[in-house]
Amino acid sequence: MAKNLVQNLSRAATLRQLEILATVYRLGSIKAASEFLHLTQPTVSMQLKKLSESVGMSLYQMIGRKLTFTDSGREIAQSATRIFGELGALEMRLADLRGLKAGALRLSVVTTSKYFIPHMLGPFCERYPGIDIQLNVGNRRQIIERLEKGGDDFYVFSHPPEDVDTVSTEFLLNPLVAIAPASHPLARKRRISLAQLAQEPFLMREQGSGTRFAIEQFLQKHRLKLNVKMTIESNEAIKHAVMSGLGISILSAHTLTFGGNAGLVELRVEKLPITTSWHMVWPKSKSLSPIADRFLQYVHDEGRQLIESEFRRTGLVTKQLR
Ligand code: PGA
Repeated sequence: MAKNLVQNLSRAATLRQLEILATVYRLGSIKAASEFLHLTQPTVSMQLKKLSESVGMSLYQMIGRKLTFTDSGREIAQSATRIFGELGALEMRLADLRGLKAGALRLSVVTTSKYFIPHMLGPFCERYPGIDIQLNVGNRRQIIERLEKGGDDFYVFSHPPEDVDTVSTEFLLNPLVAIAPASHPLARKRRISLAQLAQEPFLMREQGSGTRFAIEQFLQKHRLKLNVKMTIESNEAIKHAVMSGLGISILSAHTLTFGGNAGLVELRVEKLPITTSWHMVWPKSKSLSPIADRFLQYVHDEGRQLIESEFRRTGLVTKQLR
């Protein structure tokens, strides 16, 4: 019986009739529903009659001027309401997908995040091939300047500026570790004190770098002064300088994963790593485009797992990430 009813409904009832029934149920009268749907009252009654014939059951009765639904009328109306709710959600999802077919995603990221951001972007671009990605890379100071102009969808920092009105979500750890060539005498030591670290020739990132900012905060906290031998503007150049024995450094562990550690090791220094986190940041005044919104969701749902599992796979650094 129930099966026949459903078959009759799906064969003969039109979505329009179900919509009319759901509207009458919601508004409580044929008059109100006809006004809402811009139909005449006889049309509404006629469509409900046809629906009732399709299912072979009466849907409502009039007691005086009051419309009362039968049990079957109520059941069908409630199901129709759910169906239209789902169709509405489907329409929104499709509109969302249409919005994701083409358009741009503009990212401005600090230099250190360039080690993992492209690896996060890979699967996203594969899923949405029509999206044009614009990736701008600079040090922290340069990315703050871009944030102040506000032309991009997201800014990636580990130390978002505090004096710009932004929204920020944390998505990944960013441990800063001390690095040295594998052949360095400290490389075999199980515990290196901060005082020992401070004696080594140190290669430091430039003014305006977020890495330097974090190191300086750390030094201040521990009242420490490093033996800075050279200031170098790029993580890669620092890695090469460390490899060639010019000194040691402190860099984000991310610089050692996707790019390869090339014979560098993490030194086991007390109080290290310096713990910071990556943030997706955007101006408070700006609402996210559907593309930006989807990307943010992707970063939190999938992107960060991808990077974390790369950390685990390389087994390189650092206890905090394993
Ligand atoms: P940087 O920034 O690439 O400017 O050093 C990294 C960070 O914000 O941690």
